[in-house]
Amino acid sequence: MKHVREIPTIVVAAEKPDLRLDPHAGISLAVTHLDPVSPHWPITGPGLLVVVDGAGVEASACIADALRLWGRSVPVLAVMRPGDQPAMVEALRAGATDVIAMPLEPVVLAHRVANVIAQGGRAELEAHYEKWAAAQVEKVRAALEAQEEELVERLARVGEYRDSDTGEHVQRMARYCWIIADELGFDKEQCRFLSLAAQMHDIGKVGIPDGILRKNGRLTPEEFEVMKRHTLIGQAMLRNSRSPLLRLAEIISVTHHERWDGSGYPFGLEAEVIPIAGRIAAVADVFDAVTSARCYKGAWSSADARKELLAGRGTLFDPACVDAMLRRWDEVVGVIPQQNAA
Ligand SMILES: [Fe+2]
Ligand SMILES: [Fe+2]
Repeated sequence: MKHVREIPTIVVAAEKPDLRLDPHAGISLAVTHLDPVSPHWPITGPGLLVVVDGAGVEASACIADALRLWGRSVPVLAVMRPGDQPAMVEALRAGATDVIAMPLEPVVLAHRVANVIAQGGRAELEAHYEKWAAAQVEKVRAALEAQEEELVERLARVGEYRDSDTGEHVQRMARYCWIIADELGFDKEQCRFLSLAAQMHDIGKVGIPDGILRKNGRLTPEEFEVMKRHTLIGQAMLRNSRSPLLRLAEIISVTHHERWDGSGYPFGLEAEVIPIAGRIAAVADVFDAVTSARCYKGAWSSADARKELLAGRGTLFDPACVDAMLRRWDEVVGVIPQQNAA
């Protein structure tokens, strides 16, 4: 005996239509009738919705209502009065999968029902696939983002390692950059990007001889000239990257020692000629340097560091960046190494 598939069906019609199908079609309809005037839609969609137009029922409005609740993957067959072309067009526009005109003939009806259900199944599959594909893309994006962050952090430590033996300076500096950028109105992705790129600000130090980089005590003027080159070495290392992140890192590397009043290096750029990423990094870098202990100096208190920021506001540092940092002072203090945050 041929297997007969029963399709849960909702029928909205003023008068119960004759929905007898061709007995050889292999399908039957498990029909629930709904009041066409105020149909009480169930929460989940049926296997098939049949809406019969006419006798006070406007098929297009009914279909639109139902699909709004269930989504467009529910298959819909609109049964129309013969010759009413405008109503057929409206029903299709409202989301009917197909339209069929009265009177209903069992063989034709069975074929149309089978086609409509198959099409609805495809739409459901497509909707499911789209959801799945979007979830996969999000997974891949998150994995790439995590890899990118780890690579940057490790690469940044290369610049820092010979200098301080820890990656903590770059991490704190990145956090200050994030706070300032966020306070200046950058969006979340821009803040993330800036804080990652900023971690590579001293990558050029790999090109500075140990005798200068690790010198215990003040650098001579000649040694300081060599030290200044880490900005240009970093720029050369990162130059012409296809990665937007590395291009931003290049900008920060070459501009993080420029100063608002033009007294910085390597180019002596002034004020807004210095890219904003470099201006933010400059404040963050100096702030972490003064609040951290180094082999040649102790760590300043947060109160002294605050005074230093204010003293440099508009001379060494972009006033907007200093103000942004001061407005978020509680958060800033939370990043300062514990022993000197008081
Ligand atoms: Fe530097
Ligand atoms: Fe630094």
